Amino acid sequence: MSADKRAPLVVTIDGPAASGKSSTAQMVAARLQMRHLDSGMIYRCVTAARLRAGDSPEHWTEQSVLDEAGRVSLVPGATSFLPRLDGEDCEAEIRGEAVTGTVSLVAKMPRVRAWVNALVRATAAAHEIVVDGRDMGTAVFPDARLKVWLVAMAAERARRRILQRTGQAPTSEALATEAAELEARDRKDREQTQPAADAIWIDTTGITQVEQVERIVAMAEGLR
Ligand code: C5P
Repeated sequence: MSADKRAPLVVTIDGPAASGKSSTAQMVAARLQMRHLDSGMIYRCVTAARLRAGDSPEHWTEQSVLDEAGRVSLVPGATSFLPRLDGEDCEAEIRGEAVTGTVSLVAKMPRVRAWVNALVRATAAAHEIVVDGRDMGTAVFPDARLKVWLVAMAAERARRRILQRTGQAPTSEALATEAAELEARDRKDREQTQPAADAIWIDTTGITQVEQVERIVAMAEGLR
């Protein structure tokens, strides 16, 4: 962690798919009276914008994705930033299967990454944020004063994701399918999903979300 106490506080929370980053970041932000920014949401919005053209993703060029990125914007809400596509709410669309299945392709494009990173940094220049993603503590905010790396076993991540989506405990078959899907996405995202050397690791497999949040809040309060 950098010791610069004058810079606006940025807390980064990175980790693999469904490690609980966004819900944890949301709760940490609320506790610290900061705003939560979900960087994966921005990749999802750019993907949704490009998907609307209707042609097959195998034909997508980096430029054709970037040409659509300007349609994406973020609106500051009370505790987070809300995604907009052509000025309209797109939350349901960006969480759907079509976007989830193609977002890793878009996230591999270096100029798209640069575009997303510029939007995230501009947001952090104007607001104190808790930002979650894959590379927030490495590529985007290497000087962030608190960096967290969240991990959990794939089966546990799958269980939580199904529970969140359906409100019910998963069958073993559903659990295996979900865990395989998460691990496949981890492989696709591996390049940009690496912990910063100075990140604090939290394995959430055996602890509750409240415990994770308390640990991060305690560390952040020590920096204020
Ligand atoms: O966090 P979430 O699963 O919503 O992110 C969606 C996708 O966006 C990831 O699978 C990954 O391909 C990409 N992503 C990324 N870098 C980030 C955040 C997300 O490459 N900082």
